[in-house]
Amino acid sequence: MALDARERLIVALDLPSVDAAEKMVARLGESVLFYKIGYQLVFAGGLPFAAGLIAAGKQVFLDLKLHDIGNTVEQGVASVAQLGATFLTVHAYPQTMKAAVAGKRGSTLRILAVTVLTSYDDADLAAAGYEMNVPELAAARAAQARDTGVDGLVCSAEEATNLRKIVGPGMALVTPGIRPMGSTTGDQKRIMGPARAIRCGADYLVVGRPVLEAADPRKAADAIVAEVEQATG
Ligand code: C5P
Repeated sequence: MALDARERLIVALDLPSVDAAEKMVARLGESVLFYKIGYQLVFAGGLPFAAGLIAAGKQVFLDLKLHDIGNTVEQGVASVAQLGATFLTVHAYPQTMKAAVAGKRGSTLRILAVTVLTSYDDADLAAAGYEMNVPELAAARAAQARDTGVDGLVCSAEEATNLRKIVGPGMALVTPGIRPMGSTTGDQKRIMGPARAIRCGADYLVVGRPVLEAADPRKAADAIVAEVEQATG
């Protein structure tokens, strides 16, 4: 995938208001091209804000993790496609993924599947009635995502090498849990530096707090891009 280093950084706008998000985007300027918008902002006026970002030439990843009956998912995804977003997440259930792939047809929207939520461990899966452990279920769902025509997966950088073997070179691997040198880990447990994540096969890095909470967010973003450049150059 011939991506410029800067195109690989996705900054997670995990902020409480559109006002705060607008201020952050202004501070980051040309250093950041791609933004992730999740529940927190979407339910606080984030969709018109996303449309504005797109109109201003930025790329938007809507992290909505959709899951419903097929018809509802398909129609919802078609609406997101009209907004001009680049990525949208859905849960990796076969029916949901199939509906999402149908809903985005004819658009440039790319569907990312979330295999198993990282807050789940084997005991949580057992409690939910699954007989597989986390790696088994993640691998099975990655194969289903590939077979359904999904465009990529959200995964930890640690999983990227194994999942790449399953999905092949054509699917995008998008990895949160990235911590550049010197930043605090926050509540992330499985963390990795930007360069190493890229070398493990990540196509895009999702970074929130290390940029948002930096004294100079733009400098922090530039430093991550420089690390990515080193790993790809
Ligand atoms: O602040 P931080 O860099 O940890 O933010 C990571 C972003 O990626 C957050 O928006 C978080 O919700 C998201 N995410 C994650 N782990 C996953 C999936 C998404 O941290 N498995």
